[in-house]
Amino acid sequence: MHPHPLRSGRRRTTLSGALLVAALLAGATTTTTQTASAAPPATPSPATVAPMASTLGAQAAQSGRYFGTAVAAGRLGDGVYTRILDREFNSATAENEMKWDATERSRGSFTFGAADQIVNRALGRGQRVRGHTLVWHSQLPGWVNQTRDAATLRSVMKHHINTLMSRYRGKIHSWDVVNEAFADGGSGQLRGSVFRDVLGTGFIEEAFRTARSADPSAKLCYNDYSIENWSDAKTQGVYRLVRDFKARGVPIDCVGLQAHFGAGGPPASFQTTLSNFAALGVDVQITELDIAQAPPAAYANTVRACMNVPRCTGITVWGIRDSDSWRSRENPLLFDRNGNKKAAYQATLSAMGGSAVTRAASDSAR
Ligand code: XIL
Repeated sequence: MHPHPLRSGRRRTTLSGALLVAALLAGATTTTTQTASAAPPATPSPATVAPMASTLGAQAAQSGRYFGTAVAAGRLGDGVYTRILDREFNSATAENEMKWDATERSRGSFTFGAADQIVNRALGRGQRVRGHTLVWHSQLPGWVNQTRDAATLRSVMKHHINTLMSRYRGKIHSWDVVNEAFADGGSGQLRGSVFRDVLGTGFIEEAFRTARSADPSAKLCYNDYSIENWSDAKTQGVYRLVRDFKARGVPIDCVGLQAHFGAGGPPASFQTTLSNFAALGVDVQITELDIAQAPPAAYANTVRACMNVPRCTGITVWGIRDSDSWRSRENPLLFDRNGNKKAAYQATLSAMGGSAVTRAASDSAR
């Protein structure tokens, strides 16, 4: 887990709370001045106001964005789960089913049953699909980790990328080509992994070049956590990588910010980070959003940062109900264990609507 310090988050929550009250007083007038294309009325107190007549996916689509979720193949038989999935989301990411340990358990032997199920189900319902993930030190089979010969590992990595991307060629809107390659802490350098240790730091470039030829229609993303705070060494390390790729013509189209937050939500600089990456000429996407205890203001701040950055093209939450979450003890998602919408759901929806209340809270939060 990578929670951010709570100090700024607490202050932001209080401020937003005050502004929410102010907006509540103004709420009645907003409703009557709405136009067809305008945002729905402000939702000042999500817990007490009726839901907006929309869904997350439809609301995101109004600004040309997607709103997705991680999908677990093992839950597709659960009717409550699939009903929410199909009603609310227009993008799907396989939570585990496309990872190396799920797709190539032994060298050259590929398994796609669960991944295919997720992809086919999504595409059949008009949902888009994110690909997650091709090159990652975690959930990596032992045989890859034990490959110490550079020529062999290079060929193994390229074959893995080519096989997965070819199978889903034209079906995946964005691929996390390399995941979590940077070290935590103050170094700003790559973390140790079989890829870095055996192939050298150039493995990322090799992966992206391979990926571009395997599926030229997919956007190629670098994805990581704890790169949301602009001044962090890890964020700066990723920024330098992307800047270098763009300068040298190495193919890269997007940066995925996982956004696994503590209860304070995003750091105050989050929107700055998104804008600065975007200014390099890449899209940014929030790829695995979840927030400890799901405070509505923390969700609203996260979503609003994306809405304020034109090249922030979509948001994915990392699961549907709290009980589906890898952090389930923290209740970090938008739906409770019974599948009911939480306050954070309404905050997310109204933040995408760009209602007066969320803009006001946003302006004072930064
Ligand atoms: C998590 C899944 O949610 C869990 O089910 C699994 O046990 C571990 O991985 N960063 C990532 C995701 O890129 O793939 C991880 O997903 C969460 C952290």
